[in-house]
Amino acid sequence: MAAIMEFDKLHYRYSGTDSDALRGLSLRLPEGRKIAICGANGSGKSTMFLHAIGLHRPQSGQLSWRREGLAYDGASLRRLRRQVGLVFQDPEHQLILNTPYEDITYGLRNADVPEPDIRLRTEQIIETMGLSSIARLPIHHLSLGQKKRVALAGVLVLKPELLLLDEPTAYLDRLSERQLLAELDRAHAEGVTVAMATHDMNLAYSWADWILVLNGGECVIEGTPAEVFAQEHRIDELGLELPMLYELWRTLPQALQERSEPPRSLGAFKALLGHLPQA
Ligand SMILES: Nc1ncnc2c1ncn2[C@@H]1O[C@H](COP(=O)(O)OP(=O)(O)O)[C@@H](O)[C@H]1O
Ligand SMILES: [Mg+2]
Repeated sequence: MAAIMEFDKLHYRYSGTDSDALRGLSLRLPEGRKIAICGANGSGKSTMFLHAIGLHRPQSGQLSWRREGLAYDGASLRRLRRQVGLVFQDPEHQLILNTPYEDITYGLRNADVPEPDIRLRTEQIIETMGLSSIARLPIHHLSLGQKKRVALAGVLVLKPELLLLDEPTAYLDRLSERQLLAELDRAHAEGVTVAMATHDMNLAYSWADWILVLNGGECVIEGTPAEVFAQEHRIDELGLELPMLYELWRTLPQALQERSEPPRSLGAFKALLGHLPQA
């Protein structure tokens, strides 16, 4: 499994603090996957993302894009930011113009896209993401879920190869969450590698096909959802919860558990229950 991006022993300390936010962080983001990056508050997820777009530079260690080390000169950073898109946790940090339409065109203009293409691509993304009815509204009239989708549209329109999202579903209602996840799945189906930071373990378990767990600025577990949550004690020690479906599966008779991988959707869980011996 080729890594699209790799962190090799990154150390980073914010100025004015006396401990490292990244403490020798080493990890690989496998290409083409849906990756969840989990970890308690302060484990370094956001700091890692800021490194991934070259906004922070590590004091030591190496960040690589497709096996090539990042050089941190202007041209390399511009290239990296065309390949990697980050959706910040707070859309207020991302949306700076008055309307979704203007905001989306602004990103394209900054990326030196020729003017006729700007209109075309903006209208396309607005259409595909179902944002037409809000495209010309003042951004401050939008709900949080709408703002998050506009922020995502502004990143997706730039066609990144790696899409990073910092806690994209935090504070969203179920419907907004579903809409956002549908957009991520669509981008993923088009070949984008998607990585989201989340501390929603149910979401990580059901959505991701690869999970990284950070703790204290290090990556301490990586693997498929089944591999990661099989380390129940470790997950607990790290202050994280087991996914509900996984916990339920663990209460089933051993013979039933052995029939399949732990189910990652309610449908798969119910199908498994169909094999319960009749009482
Ligand atoms: N701007 C900042 N200035 C100083 N310390 C920071 C700053 N941002 C994060 N930190 C510290 O860096 C560590 C990692 O934080 P962060 O990357 O935000 O973790 P997470 O996103 O997993 O919650 C924490 O100890 C946090 O307090
Ligand atoms: Mg964070």
